[in-house]
Amino acid sequence: MKNLRLAVLLSGSGTTLENFFVLKEQGKLPAEVALVIGSRPDAYGLKRAKARGVPTAVVERKRFVLPEEFSEAIFAALEPVKPDLVCLAGFLSLLKIPPAYEHRVINIHPALLPSFGGKGYYGNKVHEAVLKAGCKVAGCTVHFVDNEYDHGPIIAQRSVPVLESDSTERLAQRVQEAEREVYPEVIRLFAAGRLKVEGRKVRILPE
Ligand code: GAR
Repeated sequence: MKNLRLAVLLSGSGTTLENFFVLKEQGKLPAEVALVIGSRPDAYGLKRAKARGVPTAVVERKRFVLPEEFSEAIFAALEPVKPDLVCLAGFLSLLKIPPAYEHRVINIHPALLPSFGGKGYYGNKVHEAVLKAGCKVAGCTVHFVDNEYDHGPIIAQRSVPVLESDSTERLAQRVQEAEREVYPEVIRLFAAGRLKVEGRKVRILPE
């Protein structure tokens, strides 16, 4: 299996990135994180990357007006790194994907898309909405990123139960445990060349 060059884009605490580092150390992730880009200079995930000696960059969302301008700056910062795959890991800004990166940018979202996705649905806001709606199951989705929030072709999903005793934090923790399994699994499938996009559908090719 190919060892991927990964770029990771984040806006927050970076526990998703940390999981990649831990799995890499355990030999369970066929990928090297070559660059981490933060959309905010104070994103704690940047500190996690630096602590591991991984190069970082900041492309501040608030310096740009349009998502197109911001995206251009992001993909310009990625270009020298030539990543095989770009992973969004708690990245909260809309991206416009250039043709060269189509089906090479993936995201994890803490809900079973297409429910509870789109602008404003991120982190604990998603779990609060799931609890408020009285859902009996929750979960997470890994999908290719297109030019809309939480919209591109779905690659994999994991469901978890919603319990009557759940608080936002307890549900978030259960969903995040599922995220820590499914996101690396998708990266392994990508590295193995087993993801085939057919319109809105992603086929997982046999080994
Ligand atoms: C994760 O739960 C991820 O699913 C979610 O943000 C968290 C990031 O945590 N992403 C979204 O809500 C994207 N719409 P982290 O910063 O600790 O990795």
